[in-house]
Amino acid sequence: MSAQHLLHRPLFQRPLLHRLDERARLPVRITVDGAQVTAFAGDTLLTAIVTASARLRQSEFADGPRAGFCLMAACQDCWVWTGSGERLRACSTEIAEGMSILTTNPPWLTPAS
Ligand code: FES
Repeated sequence: MSAQHLLHRPLFQRPLLHRLDERARLPVRITVDGAQVTAFAGDTLLTAIVTASARLRQSEFADGPRAGFCLMAACQDCWVWTGSGERLRACSTEIAEGMSILTTNPPWLTPAS
């Protein structure tokens, strides 16, 4: 993969949010769309992803990038997926060491059109 191609991936663009404080917690490493992301113990998936990426996820309804909406597990705007296809609400799921997350609906779960 070329460096130019990497610049167009959300994980390599300017993060949507940045941390102002609480950098002293234990680091936790997860993988997001194949890229390693280091966040902090107690972070939600949403926090870990939007402090490392230009978006939380890509909408499965083709209406563009999403960043969550309610942030309290009510709106379903923050779905992400594990490698095995389990769907998680990023705003209410705490990160764990070694998690592997996909931010687009896995193709094997998308109905054929
Ligand atoms: S942002 Fe609304 S359910 Fe997660």
